[in-house]
Amino acid sequence: MNSLAKGFDRLTPIYDSLARLVIGKSIQTSQLHFLHHLKQKQRLLILGGGTGWILPFIFEVNPSLAIDYIELSPKMLDKAKLNTNEKQNIKFIEGTESSIEDEKYDCVITNFYLDLFSDEHLAGVVVQIKEHLQPNASWFATDFVSEKKWHRIMLWVMYRFFSITTGLKTGSLPAWQETLKQVDGRLVDSKRGCHGFIKATVFKF
Ligand SMILES: C[S@@+](CC[C@H](N)C(=O)[O-])C[C@H]1O[C@@H](n2cnc3c(N)ncnc32)[C@H](O)[C@@H]1O
Repeated sequence: MNSLAKGFDRLTPIYDSLARLVIGKSIQTSQLHFLHHLKQKQRLLILGGGTGWILPFIFEVNPSLAIDYIELSPKMLDKAKLNTNEKQNIKFIEGTESSIEDEKYDCVITNFYLDLFSDEHLAGVVVQIKEHLQPNASWFATDFVSEKKWHRIMLWVMYRFFSITTGLKTGSLPAWQETLKQVDGRLVDSKRGCHGFIKATVFKF
């Protein structure tokens, strides 16, 4: 197991509570905002889903969705499994973007995941994911933005925290929206949360 996986394993028991304590409830409500777009979808890919707290909300919107759930940390994955039941069509995969199966999805969720990569690395990750999307697929990405001084201070603190606790090598927020646009993603909807610090987006491919 790599050291980043071990780091996120250690954070698993406190991750959701800590995120809510530091950012507030918009860390979660922002991720729920566009879930209604999943109603007509069939195959969803989730990358870096963490504890899977969002899964009951997703299945409530669309109980017949087939989900592949890829997560680096085995402990996060174990916790995510507890958020589902045996009737739901979900496959849990321990791994990374390199573990995406030979499938084509009509939607993907990457919440607070693109921010784990440097600009240099992110371009390749996004291309790798895009290769598994059907034409007209939707990509839901919720993440931080860096537009104001207090955003930069918060991000500096958070990246230091993740560097110490998980060994994360990335030290600053990549230009994730621009990267999605560079691979022909079209921003079709967005909503701000946490006084503008969080942006929930829907891109079409
Ligand atoms: C910042 S957390 C976000 C969790 C969740 N999306 C949320 O918003 O509550 C990032 C998650 O991505 C996982 N992760 C890190 N690198 C990954 C990778 N390359 N592939 C898949 N998961 C990864 C971590 O283990 C962690 O659970």
